[in-house]
Amino acid sequence: SCMLLNYALILAGGSGTRMNQATPKQYLPLEGVPIVVHSLRAFQACDDVDAICLACAPAYLSLVQGYIREYGLSKVKYFASAGADRRLTSQNALLAVSSDCKPEDILLIHDAVRPFVTQRIIEENIQAARQYGAVYTAFPTQDTIVQSPDGRCLSGIPPRETLFLGQTPQSFRFSVIDHAHKAYEAAQDPPPVTDDCTLVLRLGQPVHLVLGSKSNIKITTPEDWEIAQLLAKKFSFAK
Ligand code: CTP
Repeated sequence: SCMLLNYALILAGGSGTRMNQATPKQYLPLEGVPIVVHSLRAFQACDDVDAICLACAPAYLSLVQGYIREYGLSKVKYFASAGADRRLTSQNALLAVSSDCKPEDILLIHDAVRPFVTQRIIEENIQAARQYGAVYTAFPTQDTIVQSPDGRCLSGIPPRETLFLGQTPQSFRFSVIDHAHKAYEAAQDPPPVTDDCTLVLRLGQPVHLVLGSKSNIKITTPEDWEIAQLLAKKFSFAK
């Protein structure tokens, strides 16, 4: 039904230790604009996204509220606190929107440090999540991925056709992801989980793939930030 809403949950609660900068990487600039703002703009720009929830550390809340005014990010209507790990941040963001959510509404959960997500990826996430209930953005690997559980000896080379790079958004019907988080919380000694699709897989439910893109990188290290600056020029990110 056209009454159903699509919510984007933008996770900006990480500390970015691998970037090795005083400021968490999501607040570093790309072409003069903070990385988190580029990510928020992508969802703000999509007509089918109705509202955005931003999850961040309370210490950065006033900074991001300033950005929201400065960049006219009018869809950011919800805020949540960072959790101790990504799953907990995601759960906090889910809880922040849950009282307004209908079971069939769609949640798109996205890493703030993936500023190159495209309108095509966002649209396909919404459509596929409506159809299947749970979807994961993935891109076929072009490199050969090899396995080595101990990091010293090769144990195998899985067929490349079966391997994809995991990206975000990960998108769900509200009822599906709400249930998956509750089931995880109720489990005895569950293994640590960083992404939401793993929670759905734990329930034995299918997760469909949406095609990501080569440029939809996660900015993790200083080298990624350099690559991101080149990509930002190519995508002509406006100031
Ligand atoms: N994230 C989050 N809350 C956490 C951890 C991560 O919201 N407790 C978010 C990050 O802000 C980022 C995404 O999840 O947008 C992916 O996180 P990742 O880059 O893997 O982790 P960071 O904690 O940001 O960095 P690092 O692992 O290098 O410390």
